[in-house]
Amino acid sequence: MASLLSPIARRSLLGQSILTSAATASHRRTLMTLPSFSLEGKTCLVTGAARGLGKEFLTAFALSGARGACVDLSLQAGQSSVKHITEHISSQSSTPSSYIPELRAYACDVTSEEQVQETWESVVKDFGKVDVVVTAAGIVENFEAENYEYSRWLKMFDVNVNGSFLFAKAAGRHWIDNEIKGNLILVSSMSSIICVRPQKQAAYNASKAAVSLLGRSLATEWGPKGIRVNSLCPGYMKTDLIVNLLAKEGRHIEDGWVKDVPMGRLGRPSELQGTIVWMASDASSYLNGSDIVVDGGYCCW
Ligand SMILES: NC(=O)c1ccc[n+]([C@@H]2O[C@H](COP(=O)([O-])OP(=O)(O)OC[C@H]3O[C@@H](n4cnc5c(N)ncnc54)[C@H](O)[C@@H]3O)[C@@H](O)[C@H]2O)c1
Repeated sequence: MASLLSPIARRSLLGQSILTSAATASHRRTLMTLPSFSLEGKTCLVTGAARGLGKEFLTAFALSGARGACVDLSLQAGQSSVKHITEHISSQSSTPSSYIPELRAYACDVTSEEQVQETWESVVKDFGKVDVVVTAAGIVENFEAENYEYSRWLKMFDVNVNGSFLFAKAAGRHWIDNEIKGNLILVSSMSSIICVRPQKQAAYNASKAAVSLLGRSLATEWGPKGIRVNSLCPGYMKTDLIVNLLAKEGRHIEDGWVKDVPMGRLGRPSELQGTIVWMASDASSYLNGSDIVVDGGYCCW
């Protein structure tokens, strides 16, 4: 039809159709990426998801189409995290306006075997199954070893190591019994590999080294069943944990840390989103027993 019109009319019709298709495109999800990065149809459970890195991971999962369980000490904090993530997602222009992520909060102290068991059963009852587990609940504190109270040492290991193990065990049992090719991501740290300075944190470093070796051990035990286990080892990420630590220790600490990072800055929690989605998705299908270090180059020096 356009060829029967005058050149001016043709140009104006062409312009109109380009405008119309541009307007339509802006309402569609036009992002292109490898389909294997999608988490649609998967249920992801994240411990410590009321704030910090855990919350960031749950946000990334929901943005990638997953359903999710937010596990943390307080139900109220978990619900507030879920509300915040949902609002954040609905404000994103790249997400379809009709998309509301299915997220639920659960109160659980990861150091209690009984609470972990009860929480696991509730999550499976609510979602039917769990595909991905991320253990982000963790604590850090800095004390010189010679003055470190033994009760604090035990607490550090209880949360960071035992809490990771209890969720790993519940997940492994569920995946083996139901023949699910599950995916476990333990949140370790660059401190599992290197002693950061100047803060003295033997207990934290040792706990994270234990988490990483737990991950590699489980990868060998469960790999033959198609279950993958890996550890994420972040460098300094500016979460509430780090902000609180800096408030206690003083601003000069941050300046010192930055000098040790080849990229010259601390990381933003959102800079782990791509890595965690890759690790949780089928895009990393041959990744097993690895420690993925995301530290701006800290461990190179
Ligand atoms: N922030 C960093 O720079 C950094 C770097 C490397 C590794 N990590 C690790 O990442 C994880 C998360 O750190 P973050 O910076 O987000 O910390 P954060 O303090 O901001 O968040 C930790 C969350 O874990 C929860 N939690 C603590 N004890 C718990 C328990 N017993 N049961 C259930 N939940 C519990 C807290 O309530 C909190 O919501 C930790 O394991 C930490 O060691 C953090």
